[in-house]
Amino acid sequence: MSSVASRFKSRGTASPAFLLAVFLVILVAATVYVFVARLYPAPPPISRDAVLVDRQYDLTLWVAGAAFVLAQLGLAWAVFRYRDCGQQASHIRGNVALEILWTFVTLLAFVGLGILGRNAWAGARFTPSAPDAIQIEVTTNQFVYTFRYPGPDGKFGRLDPSLVSAPTGNPLGIDANDPAGKDDIVVSELTVPVNRPVELLLRSQDVVHNFFVRELRLQQDAVPGMLIPVNFTAERIGTYEIVCTQLCGLGHYKMNGLLHVVPQSDYAAFLKREALVQ
Ligand code: CUA
Repeated sequence: MSSVASRFKSRGTASPAFLLAVFLVILVAATVYVFVARLYPAPPPISRDAVLVDRQYDLTLWVAGAAFVLAQLGLAWAVFRYRDCGQQASHIRGNVALEILWTFVTLLAFVGLGILGRNAWAGARFTPSAPDAIQIEVTTNQFVYTFRYPGPDGKFGRLDPSLVSAPTGNPLGIDANDPAGKDDIVVSELTVPVNRPVELLLRSQDVVHNFFVRELRLQQDAVPGMLIPVNFTAERIGTYEIVCTQLCGLGHYKMNGLLHVVPQSDYAAFLKREALVQ
C-alpha cells in the first residue's frame, strides 16, 4: 500500500487552484458590475402591471444574485483552501443535514418567488378584463400583425378562413354576409387611448408568433386555433414597438408593428377616420 502511495506521490502545485480561484472572483465581480451599474437598462414601464413585473424581476435578481455570488465565492474558497499541497487525499461522506437544508432553501426560494410573482402574471392574463375595456383583435401571420376593431356596433364580424385573401384586401377573411362585420376596422398599426383598459384577443393564421411590447412588459404567444386574451392599460402617450419573439420563419427578424398610445380625443378621431376609409 505504501509503495503504491509513494509511486503516485508528487510535490503538488498550488498555481492552478490559485488561478481558478482568482478567475472565479473576477467573474463574480464582472457579473455583479453589469447588473449593479445597469449597463443594459430596460425602457421605462408604461403600465401598472409593467411596474409589478419590474419589481418581481428585481426581487428575483436579488435572490438569484445572492445565491450566485455566495456559490461562486464559496467555490473559489474551496478550490483554494483544498488546493494540492502534496497531501494525501481523503474521502469525506456527505452531510445529510446540510443536504436537507439547502434543498429546502432552494425549494422555498422557487415556490416563494412563484407565489409573489403571481400578481404580476395574473394581472395581464387571468384577471377578467374591465367592463369598459376596449376589445381589439390581433391576428398574426408570416410576417405581419393585423389589428381589428369591432366598429360602432361593438361586435366583430364572422371570420371565414376560406375567404382570407390579403391581395384583395381581406387579410382576415371577414364574411361580407355578416352585418356585424360591415363596420369592422382593419388596420396594420395598433392605436389605443391612454389610461383605458384594453383587451387584446390574440390569434394566429399559420404558426406560433408572439406579441411583445417591452414598455408594457407584456409578452404573449399567438397560437393557431386559439383565441388568447391579454389585458393592459397604457399610462403614457407615445409610440412603442411591437415585436414577434417566436422564431416563426425566414422573415421573423423583421416581424414587427407599432403601438400608438394616444389621448382619448385622438383615439375617437382615429376611429372616425378609419370608419370612413374602410
Ligand atoms: Cu412571427 Cu417571429
